[in-house]
Amino acid sequence: MSGEYKQLYNQWQADPQGFWASAAESIDWVNKWDKVLDDSTPPLYRWFAGAKVNTCYNAVDRHVEQGRADQFALIYDSPVTNTIKKFTFRQLRDEVAKFAGALAGQGVQKGDRVIIYMPMVPEAVIAMLACARIGAIHSVVFGGFAARELATRINDAKPKLIVSASCGIEVNRVIKYKPLLDEAIDLSNADAKPKNCIILQRPQETAPMTAGRDLDWADLMAAAQPVEPVPVAATDPLYILYTSGTTGVPKGVVRDNGGHLVAMQWSMQNVYGVKPGEVYWAASDVGWVVGHSYIVYAPLINGNTTILFEGKPVGTPDPGAFWRVISEHNVSVLFTAPTAFRAIKRDDPNGEFVKKYDLSNFRTLFLAGERCDPDTLFWARNQLNVPVIDHWWQTETGWAICGNPVGVELLEVKPGSATVPMPGYDVQVVNEMGQPVEADEIGSIVIKLPLAPGNLPTLWNNDDGYKRSYLSAFEGYYSTADAGFKDEDGYVWIMSRTDDIINVAGHRLSTGGMEEVLASHPDVAECAVIGVADQLKGEVPLGMVVLKAGVTRNEQEIIKELVQLVRDKIGPVASFKSATVVKRLPKTRSGKILRGTMKRIADGQEYRMPATIDDPVILDEITDSLKSLGYAGE
Ligand code: COA
Ligand code: AMP
Repeated sequence: MSGEYKQLYNQWQADPQGFWASAAESIDWVNKWDKVLDDSTPPLYRWFAGAKVNTCYNAVDRHVEQGRADQFALIYDSPVTNTIKKFTFRQLRDEVAKFAGALAGQGVQKGDRVIIYMPMVPEAVIAMLACARIGAIHSVVFGGFAARELATRINDAKPKLIVSASCGIEVNRVIKYKPLLDEAIDLSNADAKPKNCIILQRPQETAPMTAGRDLDWADLMAAAQPVEPVPVAATDPLYILYTSGTTGVPKGVVRDNGGHLVAMQWSMQNVYGVKPGEVYWAASDVGWVVGHSYIVYAPLINGNTTILFEGKPVGTPDPGAFWRVISEHNVSVLFTAPTAFRAIKRDDPNGEFVKKYDLSNFRTLFLAGERCDPDTLFWARNQLNVPVIDHWWQTETGWAICGNPVGVELLEVKPGSATVPMPGYDVQVVNEMGQPVEADEIGSIVIKLPLAPGNLPTLWNNDDGYKRSYLSAFEGYYSTADAGFKDEDGYVWIMSRTDDIINVAGHRLSTGGMEEVLASHPDVAECAVIGVADQLKGEVPLGMVVLKAGVTRNEQEIIKELVQLVRDKIGPVASFKSATVVKRLPKTRSGKILRGTMKRIADGQEYRMPATIDDPVILDEITDSLKSLGYAGE
């Protein structure tokens, strides 16, 4: 490791506030801060306290005013509807300003929450930016979640209004959103229900409207008057994004305006090495943090053209979809999850589709969301002939904790490692007592407070929950809940979660949440859900259930019901497709279920017999059950 990265990281360490104050010069502020960092109430910190700013202005209007009015801001490419639609920065500003006017017309004001439950259509981006324009706080909910998950988010955010669409489109399947929305509103608490819903009617499906509550997107837009951006405090929330925690109740990660703006702009240029004017594509969904940060905010703030892709890496129509989009729209940098590449590799192992397209302008591939397995990295690099960069971050941080900052210096790529900490992050690996461990030794990965700009300042309406979940295990540090190690060169290797979160096709899911659903089945006495290795999705959930005494029903029928129950309660995104009935679950003498040991057995890995196991024979029974499902080395 040499040169520029080290110098930059040292510069940040020597003067963190000076570093971020200088980065903040690239943002257009209404007025600047009193303090770069407000550290008066540790362990809570606020960046750019006293400043006023508007995120939408920085993402859209300023580019219209500063010479990019006719550059494309957004390219909507939708193979599932055969549509390509392009918006210049001027057109995007006009649409956003009008929709902001429509929201204001419905009484939405600064600080009000707006839930956005939409597929990957331009109107989703327009709605997000329109909220930012008037200082309303958006909370986007991913379309693959079921009504109950949406209801949980409604209960917590208490939105004044929900913006939704008649449908989303999966491969060969139209998903009606409106029944899910209606059910979620029915399920939600009386004091949390929205006053109105704005529904985008798509040509593929016309949703029935609820009189007195539902409003038609097109009608509102036809009558709306544009409004100007409203100055908000840098420390005001821009959005809430719910993410899986260790129970069925998701955590409302808050993102502020000021720190987020600075981090987004800085990361585009330094982490991704993208210059204003270039075309940047994050193939994810606006329902995830990757979609928030790198489909919507960062590229627009940096003056890039961003791609909004409503399709899949395979099946829409073939494994060449990504290469078609890159060549057709002249994409310089792509960011997606390793699982997308595993899907492409599965369908086109020899890269025949890669050869069909001109990818000469394509420069770098970034992967995140799960650890990139070396095989996938090598395959992608061989096919594309560009650097393939794994980088590590979380919904909570909003941008990369560790990465290979190609805009600063392309460091040696070590397949399997997320490379090095970015400026802003003092990353340490510690043991249970919170003491730093030696190089190459696995421990819990923690980040010294204060966290970098753009990271969560707290959880929505829940400072105590924030402190309890993230700041209490190691005083003065944020617990990432990831375990791993640093090697002699300072490279960080992320190996596993320390909690019950699993990563399914780059989607973060709580096995605890799934267990709650399984336990609600009348025939289930006890259960455990573990994440087992999957060639395509990285991990998939597997349920192990113990039936109540006296249940004599057909086990396969019960399993079918359990699979359907998780689909209905959490959503198809959970990919919960298999479960098995076991006589007993392995436990410690104190009654803790040995999920980690079961996972190792399922994945065919060696395991040590836990010293505290209650009855070792149970592990043999579990191994047999897993074998019958094709796991445990079968
Ligand atoms: N609305 C409704 N349903 C959705 C949905 C949405 N927005 N998104 C996914 N689903 C459904 C899928 O149709 C699927 O349903 P099924 O069980 O009936 O087949 C289920 O949820 C699971 O979806 P997914 O995990 O995406 O699996 P898949 O088999 O459809 O596709 C991949 C697998 C790898 C192609 C896909 O996950 C992918 O493109 N991943 C790329 C990266 C990505 O989005 N990462 C996110 C964070 S960076
Ligand atoms: P999410 O909040 O959905 O972005 O998920 C964050 C979690 O995904 C992290 O805590 C990690 O467990 C995992 N993750 C994300 N990116 C990586 C990566 N590059 N390498 C290893 N794990 C990752």
